[in-house]
Amino acid sequence: MLRIAVIGAGRIGKVHAATVAAHPQAQLVLVCDPIEDAAKALAEPHGARTSADANDAFTSDDVDAVVIGSPTPLHAEHVLAATRAGKAVLCEKPVASSVEAARQLAAELATFEHPPVMVGFQRRYDPSIAKAQRLAAEGRVGRVEQLTIVSRDPAPPSAEYLAQSGGVFKDMVIHDFDEARFFLGDIVSVTSIGQKLDPALASVDDFDGAVTMLKAASGAVAVIKNTRHCATGYDQKVEVFGSEGEVVAENLRATSIQVNDANGSAQQEVYLDFFLERYADAYRDELTAFIDAVNNGTPVTPTVEDGVAALVLAEAAERSARTGTTVEVQL
Ligand SMILES: NC(=O)c1ccc[n+]([C@@H]2O[C@H](COP(=O)([O-])OP(=O)(O)OC[C@H]3O[C@@H](n4cnc5c(N)ncnc54)[C@H](O)[C@@H]3O)[C@@H](O)[C@H]2O)c1
Repeated sequence: MLRIAVIGAGRIGKVHAATVAAHPQAQLVLVCDPIEDAAKALAEPHGARTSADANDAFTSDDVDAVVIGSPTPLHAEHVLAATRAGKAVLCEKPVASSVEAARQLAAELATFEHPPVMVGFQRRYDPSIAKAQRLAAEGRVGRVEQLTIVSRDPAPPSAEYLAQSGGVFKDMVIHDFDEARFFLGDIVSVTSIGQKLDPALASVDDFDGAVTMLKAASGAVAVIKNTRHCATGYDQKVEVFGSEGEVVAENLRATSIQVNDANGSAQQEVYLDFFLERYADAYRDELTAFIDAVNNGTPVTPTVEDGVAALVLAEAAERSARTGTTVEVQL
């Protein structure tokens, strides 16, 4: 049993606490959040204790590992404090607030022996996305030429969340940057056009959507379409186009029921509502991989270096969207 503390009892902390509690090889022992009621709501149903102070996770002898779901500006310091205390870490994305902070974190981690540190790009563990990547890597579609990712949230997060998020590229599109690297490997340039159609986001100088193009070292190109709102729900699709065919991972629904009649054909179910439903299997398999890395020494993926690379692409996309230029990157 890996004894785990969850730090941050917000939207993603809720997902992780439930995933840890349900996992046969893990035990939820502690939930830390300055909002006591939020921590209690996640901890008490599973017999775990709570603390208002994340340091309790680092100093407690009955904690082997921490899952960090605190606000983005706290990630780097929480990762460092946890690893210095000998705890294994699964840290939510982005691993730090900036490329500079992420590189500094990676450099500090390289100076001492520590348990595994994994970054929470859970899409790598989504059964559909993982299978699409495996098929493409095995050559099922021939030479991979184009990758298209659609990622649209049903509605923007709260204003308080947005203020700490680092902007749409570091907060949202970062998943797509990691996914693009998962499929295509090294990326050499980023071109992005940002949209400011939502006055609430524009008033805090953030984009509410973007279309981003990445060029990979292989010569393949990725197109990533994002919006912070989507009337049809949480829209998550990926298409890998190659010289011999394509692999498509479509949206998931609660059932596959479709009604066909004289008026046409229609799906009966909307898309799975948001990340906690759509990626439930991914969070579970991500946790299993993390536990394997801690218990059996299997390689950690995604690594802090993957977290740094995704941030490099996010900052390049931000620069591209603000200057109207293509930004070359070196990872
Ligand atoms: N992988 C994913 O699919 C995914 C989805 C959502 C959010 N996230 C990431 O998770 C992080 C949190 O996002 P969220 O949506 O849960 O935010 P949230 O605002 O819902 O929750 C954050 C929680 O952290 C708590 N907190 C603040 N300071 C703290 C501290 N010092 N110690 C412990 N807890 C503290 C807050 O009180 C709040 O309850 C962000 O970095 C975000 O990018 C990842």
